[in-house]
Amino acid sequence: MCGIVGYVGDRQAADFLLEGLAKLEYRGYDSAGIAVYHDGKIKVQKKVGRLVNLKKVVEQDPNIGTIGIGHTRWATHGGPSDVNSHPHMSMDGKFAVVHNGIIENYMTLKEELLAKGYQFKSETDTEVVAHLCSDMYDGDFASTVRRVLKRLRGSYSLVFMSTYQPDTIICCKKDNPLIVGLGDGENYIASDIPAILNYTRRTYIMNDGEVAIVKKDSVWVTDLDGQPVSKKVFEVNWDAEAAEKGGFEHFMIKEIFEQPKAIRDTLSCRVADDGKSVKFDELNWSPEDVNSIGKIMITACGTAYHAGLLAKYFIEKLARIPVEVDIASEYRYRDPLTDSKTLCIIISQSGETIDTLAALKEAKRRGARSLAITNVVGSSISREADQVVYTWAGPEIAVASTKAYTTQLVALLLLALYMGRLNGQLSAEKETEILQDLQKVPEQCQYIFDHADDVKQLAEKFKNKEDVFFIGRSMDYGLAMEGALKLKEISYIHAEAYAGGELKHGTLALIVDGVPVIALATQRDVEEKMISNIKEVKARNAQVVGVVQDDDTEVAKTVDYIIKIPKSDNFVMPVMTVIPLQLLAYYAAVVRGNDVDKPRNLAKSVTVE
Ligand code: F6R
Repeated sequence: MCGIVGYVGDRQAADFLLEGLAKLEYRGYDSAGIAVYHDGKIKVQKKVGRLVNLKKVVEQDPNIGTIGIGHTRWATHGGPSDVNSHPHMSMDGKFAVVHNGIIENYMTLKEELLAKGYQFKSETDTEVVAHLCSDMYDGDFASTVRRVLKRLRGSYSLVFMSTYQPDTIICCKKDNPLIVGLGDGENYIASDIPAILNYTRRTYIMNDGEVAIVKKDSVWVTDLDGQPVSKKVFEVNWDAEAAEKGGFEHFMIKEIFEQPKAIRDTLSCRVADDGKSVKFDELNWSPEDVNSIGKIMITACGTAYHAGLLAKYFIEKLARIPVEVDIASEYRYRDPLTDSKTLCIIISQSGETIDTLAALKEAKRRGARSLAITNVVGSSISREADQVVYTWAGPEIAVASTKAYTTQLVALLLLALYMGRLNGQLSAEKETEILQDLQKVPEQCQYIFDHADDVKQLAEKFKNKEDVFFIGRSMDYGLAMEGALKLKEISYIHAEAYAGGELKHGTLALIVDGVPVIALATQRDVEEKMISNIKEVKARNAQVVGVVQDDDTEVAKTVDYIIKIPKSDNFVMPVMTVIPLQLLAYYAAVVRGNDVDKPRNLAKSVTVE
């Protein structure tokens, strides 16, 4: 997964390219490069490491010219190095290419090109595309690109420049995101909206199989056969501020604090005017639509998968429909029992995760109905699914997902309430009760933020620990898994989550003097059982942090530290309970001096298998 940008206009291209790449670094950041055309030549500069390394190179040796392309990389084929960085050039210096995705048949193409005498400089799959362009050049840049594309298998967003037509950039996509920003006498290309927000709000969201021929005064879109495609302008209504860090030290903490707004935005458009029932204008289901569902299959990855684990509790308890939850990369390959009576719910913040997208395609192939829960309008998953429920979390820049997760929980709980009412499994009173508690959450979050310093102190205390355990029962178990993931991915402290009742079946052997155990005990119906589990770890001298509803008296008697969450319905509790877990991970990462927003080895949008 990578970030790509392009510029054509009258300004110095390198300025936009470097600024745009900075906004896309969350898509990959192990190397970066730009290519700018000037005076008959394309000059490529690329550097392994963060963008700042490339910036230094460009400062020392300015890359002059008003048309160019750029790339920020997360390595797939070929490790991070200067030479593997993009852009890649054809041997004759006539074509430059940047690429996000994987060319699956690159080995065959490479052998063919090697046999013809082409020499390769890098180990990447992308370089074949540059050489293919010169090999297949037919006197017309666009026609050559279209013919090259027909030879590629795999996924890609690709952007091309050529000295044959130095006023033109050509771009296209398949299963990876790409937008064209429409300016006045200048145009932009990017993987994602934040890169262009400071320049324009008018965009074309590119679809698979479309090719855009971009000049400074025109953008011409065709299909792979060169037939014109008429595009609608998509006006971006994001606040430019929303894509920036604001006053916060990191995107992650900014995004944690944005949760009340994100939750409110996701919720408010789905509550009927009287505040008592759920509505989904975008679904508009009938009782028959719900009654015809034999089973729900949820697939997702990482944090989104953890949201799915909670959705199983929501839907099974409130709508009494059986739910299976599967990691997307497992679902695809296990010959799943999915048919036309299955509703497949796909959860993805980015809407671009390739494993999740592939699981969706697989479910559809098996005849399932599909519903995507995603945060990105126009994303690949949103376009592939039969129906979409958007989480309105706004752009999430930090690699560690926070506000996307809480809004996924909100959307899924609303969906469970909606289905439960439609199929008659849920009373109107219970629906209203849960919905009213959910509507209080944005304000109740303030209590948690007011006590953020207590969590910070715990992070200080645990900063040198090697292992942390999270335990919980029922919905708190699903949440424990998310708490552990968050801590691992940004603080690099090893963390594991267990169902409270499962500890004694093996893991208890790891509980020794001073090991931190975060015991989630917000679910009232299993509180007594959780207290027993807490006593089990206390007896082995664990340091226990109890996370409880604010009127708890019992858990507090058995633990070393307590974190209180405002009281709410059991179904609503997870939406708030996750916040101190996010804060714990955040402060632990900060105090350990880690790169919070860009944890090692990870990238925001995982568009490779
Ligand atoms: C962890 C995290 C990842 C993502 C996962 C799926 O904090 O963000 O685990 O949840 O890569 O990404 P999306 O939701 O974009 O499909």
